[in-house]
Amino acid sequence: MSLSIKQLHPLFAAEVSGIKLSPSLSDAQAAELHDAINQYAILIFHDQHFDDDELLDTGKRFGSIAPPRNHRSGDRLKHAVLADISNLDQNGELRKRDDTRRLDGLANQLWHSDASFRPISGELSMLYAHVVPPEGGDTQFADLRAAYDALDDDLRTIIADHWAEHSILHSRGLLGYSDYNEAERSLVPEVRHPVVRTHPGSKRQSLYLGSHASHIIDLPIPDGRLLLRELMEHATQQQFVHTHSWRKGDLVIWDNRCTLHRGKRYDDIKYKRDLRRVTTQDLTTVDHNPELVPAS
Ligand SMILES: [Fe+2]
Repeated sequence: MSLSIKQLHPLFAAEVSGIKLSPSLSDAQAAELHDAINQYAILIFHDQHFDDDELLDTGKRFGSIAPPRNHRSGDRLKHAVLADISNLDQNGELRKRDDTRRLDGLANQLWHSDASFRPISGELSMLYAHVVPPEGGDTQFADLRAAYDALDDDLRTIIADHWAEHSILHSRGLLGYSDYNEAERSLVPEVRHPVVRTHPGSKRQSLYLGSHASHIIDLPIPDGRLLLRELMEHATQQQFVHTHSWRKGDLVIWDNRCTLHRGKRYDDIKYKRDLRRVTTQDLTTVDHNPELVPAS
């Protein structure tokens, strides 16, 4: 096989051609793609085709699948483990402005790492575009390894041993949305992750941040929030950011262990946007939290 890889940003992100992704990838192809992911963190494939079965089965080639948190899901997709990144209800119709699932999902427009609010956080996300709006709705990515490299020594020392508490209710709360009952809250307890981690595939140090990160353990809340805000502002400077403008048939794989991403605004009351995602689990999280048992 001859993969063709074109780097799109001076630091990370690459377009891959010469391959049709599918569940029947050979082990050699999967290994080659893993190497590329470890190097570039973001891989973009055009002109792909997946139904829900194929997307899920392709995701399984890359790891253990992380269950999404679909807020009051309408089961529009064939498999519950696929994340419905759309503005559509179970009938395929546009959600209304006051739709609770829409309001919950607006926080996807804040910088985040998928499933950082889980004890076993997200490793790779694979997002496939069925329908894209005529304008807006880009996805931006930030390179957290490069951001770490660019920190001054003082700040590196300050954050070296810190852990942050992550909660999806925190990221939603940043936008003023808190319409969750006790049962829903109990499903998403706060979790802790190190602020700096070694990326297993590249052995490079990376920040681990995002809008789910509420505060720093063992620091007063305001100190921790200021520190996280400083790191987020640093990491999302333009020189660390790549913007992807979606085309129907695009599949983007990103590494949640060393990147942040956010969706950009589009007119979701007017235009349909139907993207579907599968995310694998970062089982190295267990190294940080030995008491965890990986989900099957
Ligand atoms: Fe996301």
